[in-house]
Formats: sequence, structure tokens, C-alpha cells
Amino acid sequence: MVSRVGVAVVGFGWMGRVHTQAYARVPHHFPHLAVRPELVTVAEEVPGRAEEAAAQFGFAGTARDWREVAADPRVQAVSITAPNFLHREIGVAMAEAGKHIWIEKPVGLTADDTRAVADAVAGAGVQGTVGFNYRNAPAVAAARQMVDAGDIGAVTHVRIRLFSDYAAHPEGALTWRYERERGGSGVLGDLASHGVDLARFLLGDITSLTADTAVFVPERARPTGATAGHSRATGGELGPVENEDYVNCLLRFASGARGVLEACRVSVGEQNNYGFEVHGTRGAVSWDFRRMGELRVSRGTAYQDQPVSTVYVGPGHGEYAAFQPGSANAMGYDDLKVIEAHNFLRSIADGTAYGPTLDDAVHMATALDAMARSAERGGWVELG
Ligand SMILES: NC(=O)c1ccc[n+]([C@@H]2O[C@H](COP(=O)([O-])OP(=O)(O)OC[C@H]3O[C@@H](n4cnc5c(N)ncnc54)[C@H](O)[C@@H]3O)[C@@H](O)[C@H]2O)c1
Repeated sequence: MVSRVGVAVVGFGWMGRVHTQAYARVPHHFPHLAVRPELVTVAEEVPGRAEEAAAQFGFAGTARDWREVAADPRVQAVSITAPNFLHREIGVAMAEAGKHIWIEKPVGLTADDTRAVADAVAGAGVQGTVGFNYRNAPAVAAARQMVDAGDIGAVTHVRIRLFSDYAAHPEGALTWRYERERGGSGVLGDLASHGVDLARFLLGDITSLTADTAVFVPERARPTGATAGHSRATGGELGPVENEDYVNCLLRFASGARGVLEACRVSVGEQNNYGFEVHGTRGAVSWDFRRMGELRVSRGTAYQDQPVSTVYVGPGHGEYAAFQPGSANAMGYDDLKVIEAHNFLRSIADGTAYGPTLDDAVHMATALDAMARSAERGGWVELG
């Protein structure tokens, strides 16, 4: 029998919308799941935004204060898609109220925040998952399988890049993202968080790192009204950008492999240029988010001049079969969130974690803290 899971969304900006759409689509792609999400309520602080969301997506109710969600007995599961500075308070409160949580990265402003949410989830015995969507791409799952199976030999090194221009425009508004108190560490939490998760997903634990950071757009105009996503502001009073636009980082893995991670939010000419190249003693595998269904693979015993071929992922890889019947039909970003929603709901149904957990988030946040420390003081930082 299919049982209902009452769902709430807190924060209805870009991610709130994407989570909501994902819940709605889970039954279409995963019809055999033992639970069905029911959109109970949406909480938003911007007047009218929750009501619009309810009218469009069919939430039964709305709230201005997320505390009403924590107290609502009809809600069993909560998407926390509010800005970073609210992750800790809302995450801890929801877990302590017995709600399962699907929380967006970077799960707070610091590793301390992330640990507090992880502890609350563990203490309450609820399920908790995190928005590390890129590992859900079937090609990324396939790449990990190749690495684990030894198809490219012993892994020697990896290069991970996350370049975007979403903050490149000089008129990009000074939203919460650019303030340390509300946005945290800038591109570290925004993009490098995904890079660290991919690095760990593909190569295992990171033991130490050294990093350098920079701010390239030091001032922005304060917005005059409510913002969502990457709003523009012109002519407003200028304020300082308090967190990082750019980070580069050298990584050492427990396996002995080495890595380079670079992330930038002000890269003119780069739109979602996210991906990796993993190299091993006998081969290599690389992935580019913009060609999400493809891998570039070099396998064999030639060592030199070894051919590189394109592999189109298909129904045998990751959750591809839930979306398309044959290889090389394109999937999109939102599909990764449907997979994430499915993992979350399946965790609730089975009482077992599927997909990234709060422990993965703590490892990621510890690495981000180490990057910030290394950039400030110089030198290698052990992750412990
Ligand atoms: N996984 C990904 O690929 C990905 C992509 C973008 C953003 N994110 C993460 O998702 C989170 C939200 O990012 P976004 O781009 O959707 O931001 P956004 O600014 O578009 O949306 C945030 C929303 O939260 C609302 N909000 C603010 N304070 C609130 C409160 N007290 N109660 C209820 N609502 C409140 C805002 O009004 C806004 O509508 C961030 O933590 C970000 O790091 C993840």
C-alpha cells in the first residue's frame, strides 16, 4: 500500500521551486515507490510568494514563519531551501521536531553549523539528505563505477572545475550571497562544496589541502526590493562583497591520489562549466555537466597514444532508466533533483539512508573551513 508523506518547503526561491517540482515528478518517474509526497505547506518570508507557490503547485497551505512548519503535525518531511545563514537554525529545529530533512548545501555557514544539523538529525533518528545533485548524474555514477572497478588502473590524480558567470555582472545585486553573516564563504559554499562532494564521491576521503582565494568584484549595489536567485540592481548604494569569488585548491586523498579543485563565480565566458577529469595508471575518464549524458573514456593497455572515446550513458547507468528508454536522450538539471527527491522519500519509506547524508556534508564543510584557513594563513591543512 502506498502511504502519504506530508511535505513542506521552506524558502521558495530557485531551489524551493526546483524541490517542489521534483516532489511532484517523483511518482511519474518512480511509480513503485512505497510513499507519495503530498505538498502540505510552503513557508516564505517575502509577502505573496508562498501564496503564489501554493496556487501554482497545489500546496494545501502557506506560512510566513517556518516555525509554523516545525509545529505542523501534518508535515513529516521538509525541504530547507532558504539562504545559508538559516540552515542551522531551521535544520536543527526541524530535526528536533521529528521531521525528515532534505537540506541544501552548504548546510550552514561553517563546519560547526553543519555538525549541529548532523547531530540533530542523528539524535532525532530522522532521515537527512543534502543537495549534492551532481553525483546523481548517471554519467557520474558510471564514472565512479569505472574508477571502483579499476577500469582506469590505480587513480593517480583528478582535476575538478566549477566555473560560472552568475556573479560576473557588475550590476549583480548585493544579495545575502555576498555577505559573510548570511552567505558564508561565497564561492566555497556555492560551488566548491559541490566539487568537494564530487571529489569524495569519486576518489574517497581527502586528508589534507592547501588553498588560495580572491575577491575580484569587491563592491555591488544593494537591492531595493525582494530578490530571488541572481537579481540585478542598478544605481543603488554600493556595499562591500564580503566573501570569496574564487578559490583554487590542491588536494591529497587517503588513497595517495592528488587533486586540483578550482571554482569561480565571476568567470566571464563560462556558464556552468562544471566537471572533472580523473586519471589513472591505465586510463582516464572525464565529464562535463553541460554534456551531462556523456563521458570521455580512455581504457586499455596502450599507455601512450591510447584512444579516447565518447560513451553515452544509458539505461544501465545510475537512474537513467527512470527517465529515458535508450542512450543519448538528454537529461537535465531538474532530473538530478528528481533523483534526489526519490532518494529522500525512499530513505523515509525504508528507514535507511540513500544518497548523500549529513555526514557527507560534515566532511565537505570541514574541507571548506580548511580551504578558508589555508587561504588566510598559508600552507597545508590536515582534515583530521
Ligand atoms: N544544489 C544546487 O545546485 C543549488 C543551486 C542553487 C542554490 N542552492 C542552495 O539553495 C539555497 C537557496 O538558494 P536559492 O538560489 O534558491 O536562493 P534564493 O535567494 O533564490 O531563494 C531563497 C528564498 O528563501 C526565502 N527566505 C529568506 N528568509 C526566509 C525565512 N526566514 N523563511 C522563509 N523563507 C525565507 C527568500 O525570500 C527566497 O525566496 C542556498 O543554500 C543555496 O546554496 C543549491
